[in-house]
Amino acid sequence: MDKKEKTISIFKPYLSLRTDYRGGKSKKEVGASEQKVYKLSSNENLLGSSPKALKVIREGIDRLHEYSDYSDTNLRDALSTYYKGDLSADQFITGNGGVEIIEMIVRGFVDVGHEVIISNPCFGPYNMFSLKAGAKVHDVRLTDDNYELDIKGIHSKINDNTRLIFLTSPNNPTGTIISKHEMDIFMAGIPEHVVVVLDEVYFHFTDAAGYFIASKYVKENRRIIGVNSFSKAYGLAGLRLGYAYSTLELANYLRNLSRPFMLNSLSTEAAIAALGDDAHLKRTVNLIQKEKPFLYQNLDRIGLKYWKTQANFILTKPEMDADLFVEKMLENGVMVRPVANFGAPGCVRVTIGTHKANEAFIAALEVVLNEE
Ligand SMILES: Cc1ncc(COP(=O)(O)O)c(C=O)c1O
Repeated sequence: MDKKEKTISIFKPYLSLRTDYRGGKSKKEVGASEQKVYKLSSNENLLGSSPKALKVIREGIDRLHEYSDYSDTNLRDALSTYYKGDLSADQFITGNGGVEIIEMIVRGFVDVGHEVIISNPCFGPYNMFSLKAGAKVHDVRLTDDNYELDIKGIHSKINDNTRLIFLTSPNNPTGTIISKHEMDIFMAGIPEHVVVVLDEVYFHFTDAAGYFIASKYVKENRRIIGVNSFSKAYGLAGLRLGYAYSTLELANYLRNLSRPFMLNSLSTEAAIAALGDDAHLKRTVNLIQKEKPFLYQNLDRIGLKYWKTQANFILTKPEMDADLFVEKMLENGVMVRPVANFGAPGCVRVTIGTHKANEAFIAALEVVLNEE
């Protein structure tokens, strides 16, 4: 080979970008014993998985030597039934968790030079995947302190290169929602070439009067995608299953990114069973509604700043350094999550758990804050 030959990089520049998003740690990663630590750091369901889902997993375990279904038709049929036929099976796409769905959406619509709008504090992967696709990301932050959408700010950033706008309701980590009134104003300023992604993975938990989901706008044939997950209310985070729905045009397009045998057989069957497990869902949602006032009262009494939530977690702001606070809470048996990498520096998010777990959280809080 000629020594003077110029080196040709095999690496895609944007894919090599380092981003600061890191998922919440597992108990194993922090060296926590199963019995002694309450994990309130990843918005999981502390009641566990849907029993109906667990049953089909146990029954299916002996069939793992067989391939799963080639495509996800059965799950999409079940989703269409779940949405009471408002959306046809072909309006859904499925993937390995909401995170994979978000990645598919970015891969589907974003090329180098395109622009994406996010509103921090928000879920980190919107930014991470967009940067890795070579997009310019505009962060139009939620308004200070009450975390409302800056609709005018977002509209002002839209140009011919804009492809995606990420919204989240209820939002992670703030627990706030976007009302239908706000969304109507927002959608009125969105041109045809921009796809709105409404991440609603916590939608089961909200009891707010003005709440809505993306299906309303899908039915009006707007270019909007609703993103969802089996990780939260259904308690199946470890299985990795998520889905999205949209207009036929967008869903058919995005399904071109699906791989053969993409979903594993057990998670598909478990998800279908979970969709029919109303009792588990009801228990889960009731628990969150019942525990919220208990936590609010205690946080008020202790004097820790927090934001009222429409999800299964609460955003707090301790006066001490957030990382130190998280470390001290772990020493006292409770895992909580610092959310600086969600655009909320100094804040810590806590998942609402069982009453026992929430009592442990409050007890640990009292120890940690009194040590100061
Ligand atoms: C706002 C939001 N979207 C999407 C996800 C992805 O969920 P999963 O990949 O577990 O389905 C999460 C998980 O924490 C989230 O908080």
